[in-house]
Amino acid sequence: MHEQLRQDAEGAILFDPGVSPQVDGRWFDPGYWRERAALSVRGGGRGGVAVIATPAGECVLRHYRRGGMVARLLGDRYLWTGADSTRSFAEFRLLQAMYKLGLPVPQAVAARYQRRGLHYRADLITQRIPAAQTLAERVVERLLDAELAQEVGALVARFHRAGVCHADLNAHNVLVAPDALYLLDFDRGRMRAPEQGWRIANLQRLRRSLFKLGAAPDGEPAFDQQIWTPLLYGYERTLSA
Ligand SMILES: Nc1ncnc2c1ncn2[C@@H]1O[C@H](COP(=O)(O)OP(=O)(O)O)[C@@H](O)[C@H]1O
Ligand SMILES: [Mg+2]
Repeated sequence: MHEQLRQDAEGAILFDPGVSPQVDGRWFDPGYWRERAALSVRGGGRGGVAVIATPAGECVLRHYRRGGMVARLLGDRYLWTGADSTRSFAEFRLLQAMYKLGLPVPQAVAARYQRRGLHYRADLITQRIPAAQTLAERVVERLLDAELAQEVGALVARFHRAGVCHADLNAHNVLVAPDALYLLDFDRGRMRAPEQGWRIANLQRLRRSLFKLGAAPDGEPAFDQQIWTPLLYGYERTLSA
């Protein structure tokens, strides 16, 4: 677990030489992988992600895009305030720290920023979790039951116990793989002192997401009984374990 920095005229690349000994700017260009028949594009998320077959195994390449009101104005540009506070470097380092703690997250491969004037653009490459479905897909296929809900609660509690606050905890950012559950998408995530406030806010966001996706179509009382109570049970049990 280590990081190596590589600077060029436009910006810099941060990568883990233990995961991939060589990473250069071309790795972040979908066209480069397309020419090698090593690219497939998947929907989901803001702009979709690219799955790339790299020498370091199958990876996911994600370009950072703005959400909400500023999206139209700024597109994929972020205000430059220094390399260490770029979205991509911050997420890369947080992923590495969580991976080291044994938390179920994809392994970070490389991060990049490209600076231009007052702004920068950013990308992240992680190792792909194979054969996984998002929790959102599970919900839509009516495969979220009390047992899975409890496992999701336990998953979130493991991160909270380690002090990890997820800035966008929703059902699209939970992966259900054959072996385990994983959390994804730590943009703006950070380590925080243990406090109830942000933990509850994380849970509330997940609750809204599950309810909105129709996890229990018979209304809120049914949702609470079938999904949310088991989820909180799994959460509490793991948090205090
Ligand atoms: N390492 C990964 N392994 C497998 N699937 C991934 C991985 N990273 C992202 N995905 C898929 O791509 C989607 C979008 O990625 P995400 O990191 O959530 O970015 P965003 O929501 O900002 O578009 C996820 O919901 C998931 O389906
Ligand atoms: Mg996401």
